Amino acid sequence: MTILVTGGAGFIGANFVLDWLAASSESVVNLDKLTYAGNLETLGSLQNNAHHVFVQGDIGDRALVDKLLQTHQPRAVLNFAAESHVDRSIHGPGEFIETNIMGTFRLLEAVRGYWGALHDSPKAAFRFLHVSTDEVYGSLAQKDPAFTETHRYEPNSPYSASKAASDHLVRAWHHTYGLPVLTTNCSNNYGPYHFPEKLIPLMIVNALAGKPLPVYGDGMQVRDWLYVKDHCSAIRRVLEAGRLGETYNVGGWNEKPNIEIVQTVCRLLDELRPQVDGTNYSQQITYVTDRPGHDRRYAIDARKLEQELGWKPAETFESGIRKTVEWYLANPQWVRNVQSGAYREWVQKQYAGAELVP
Ligand code: NAD
Ligand code: TYD
Repeated sequence: MTILVTGGAGFIGANFVLDWLAASSESVVNLDKLTYAGNLETLGSLQNNAHHVFVQGDIGDRALVDKLLQTHQPRAVLNFAAESHVDRSIHGPGEFIETNIMGTFRLLEAVRGYWGALHDSPKAAFRFLHVSTDEVYGSLAQKDPAFTETHRYEPNSPYSASKAASDHLVRAWHHTYGLPVLTTNCSNNYGPYHFPEKLIPLMIVNALAGKPLPVYGDGMQVRDWLYVKDHCSAIRRVLEAGRLGETYNVGGWNEKPNIEIVQTVCRLLDELRPQVDGTNYSQQITYVTDRPGHDRRYAIDARKLEQELGWKPAETFESGIRKTVEWYLANPQWVRNVQSGAYREWVQKQYAGAELVP
């Protein structure tokens, strides 16, 4: 048996692939375009693993996706591939429309063709799982109840609007064509291999480099944080037992204002990597101009996933953030290679002569 994962060289996709292959002998075909966010160095431990087939390519490349589906006959397709950074979507929304909307559309069409031609039993067992975000629901006021699966879609950034569009396409392919889909809408993830342009890794990396810790606006925007391995376990559970056509919110009941996150990272670094002159890392915190259209609060109500499928996160925020800071302290070379762009050369060197395309 095989699954096809898209975007499996990114932060969440790579964690998913690593966890999957650590626990299962079911093969993974990993289709990733290797944008700036894709990093094969993260998957270095799988280089000699025959159960991992890496293919560099675009989810919107119909001929390639058709070929992969025919060759590997996956029993499921899990779509992690996306442009994912809100700030980048503000500076240049084009790629977000291209990959998140058009790419998902083309992928759905390829999968529909493949699934439609399957025999009864593999056809009934097949799943298309779409990985999405809580940002599609828009922003909450301070006292609003957390997002449930029936919350109105009110995306506010080019990123969240493009993800919302992709969610709608996935839903429509189920209702119109009967494609067996599942969608997960997860809150903010953090953990190992997180690209250091996102809040938590950026703060760790800048703090250690003696650089300012840029907090947008008043730092009181609230996000609901989930350790990435818990997101991966939720996706496995939904894939295994989710009801077709349903959406499942994934979250860890960990609402925190940004400034508290940054203070926590600073405190952990003070403990684990104290500065020689005894100063606290929090002295590097710098308030900067707010992000345009910055959503004030996200919060996930994950009761459906817990009640229907029995999923619960394994980590508390306290345990997860400690593991995360420890991981970054233990892996400075991974960070350096990302920052210098050397991970791209690493791919060339490591995979020289290797077949990256089938
Ligand atoms: P990421 O940016 O770290 O990784 C995205 C991956 O997709 C990269 O490896 C990139 O090379 C690949 N990719 C981009 N365009 C592609 C294309 N056209 N074809 C094939 N591959 C392509 O993102 P992430 O944080 O790992 O997020 C993964 C998914 O989870 C996304 O769909 C995102 O919307 C969703 N999500 C993320 C979070 C979060 O906090 N990071 C929370 C909820 C949901
Ligand atoms: P981010 O990691 O970009 O995720 P998202 O925008 O998808 O929630 O940002 C998390 C929060 O941290 C968000 O409210 C913006 C804020 N933020 C800062 O205050 N400073 C920063 O340098 C970054 C990258 C984010």
